[in-house]
Amino acid sequence: MTEQAQKIKTEAISAIEAACDENALEEARVKFLGKKSPLNALAAGMKDLSPEEKPKLGAALNEARQSITTALEARKQSLQDAADSASVENLDITMPARELPQGSLHPLTIVKDRAIQILRRLGFALAEGPEIETEFHCFDALNTPADHPARNDSDTFYFDSGKLLRTHTSSVQIRTMEKQDPPIKIIAPGSAYRRDEIDATHLSVFNQLEGLYVNKDVRLSDLKGTLEYFYRAMFGDKTEVRFRPHFFPFTEPSFEIDVKLQVKGEEPKWIEVAGCGMVDPAVFGSINESRGDNAFDPATTTGYAFGMGLDRLAMIQYGIKDIRLLIENDTRFLSQFS
Ligand code: DAH
Repeated sequence: MTEQAQKIKTEAISAIEAACDENALEEARVKFLGKKSPLNALAAGMKDLSPEEKPKLGAALNEARQSITTALEARKQSLQDAADSASVENLDITMPARELPQGSLHPLTIVKDRAIQILRRLGFALAEGPEIETEFHCFDALNTPADHPARNDSDTFYFDSGKLLRTHTSSVQIRTMEKQDPPIKIIAPGSAYRRDEIDATHLSVFNQLEGLYVNKDVRLSDLKGTLEYFYRAMFGDKTEVRFRPHFFPFTEPSFEIDVKLQVKGEEPKWIEVAGCGMVDPAVFGSINESRGDNAFDPATTTGYAFGMGLDRLAMIQYGIKDIRLLIENDTRFLSQFS
């Protein structure tokens, strides 16, 4: 009877190997492993065997079932593989793929990211504040008198509530000092808004990057060194930087910064790129009043601040002649940067 089991196994394996599709294979499985299989019939005769014969037949039956199962699995896999290769047979893998449009960073983003990267190396942390501001944060706390022209309805977007769209990122100086104690070393990139006549160099929304460092013993030479480092990292080691005395209500002394640069296709010339100065003690006074403490004691607290136009930097960097290109979303323009 063990020989019979052997025979059935051989027969089953050749049937399985001959199965040319899944249906034929399933038929073979039912025939050789199903309830009415010849192996089961053999097993039914087991009860008539001698005690020595029984385990021999048992082992032969197990071995036969195992081999048949393995052969079924192997055949199933090879039928699947054949079907897989058939399904890609006529596929032309040398055909060029359909190109997906690849976006690129906006020139303003590229310049902003570089500026942040350079200033972070110098220990500045990122800060932010709201674009819809109070007059206090945008003007009063920055020592800007009520009759200052920047506060006019014709220059600034006011809401009926009396709030306004911030006219500069300097308001973030106030927001930061209200909630943090010195030392403070932050930069705040962000949008600012003015009621400007729109032309090649003005938009009513533009982008600035504010800087503020407050500590004991901060000196003008620290401010100078920091900004010279910044502009040389931005525009090249040999870049000349000039500090021209100016007036801002919230710094004393104050300066405008010019950088000598060669815009593509032009003679090198001095270009104004930022405002800066030493924080006016009156600003620390407003902060203390608003906080209700003396954390920014004007007798011992010193600081510098700066604010630069990021659109300006991008225009210089890439020789962009018209600021409106930065907001028109024309891909013929935008795809030139990466
Ligand atoms: N807020 C000024 C502006 O928008 C720029 C500025 C000047 C910022 C001097 C400063 C500063 O922090 O110290 O024109």
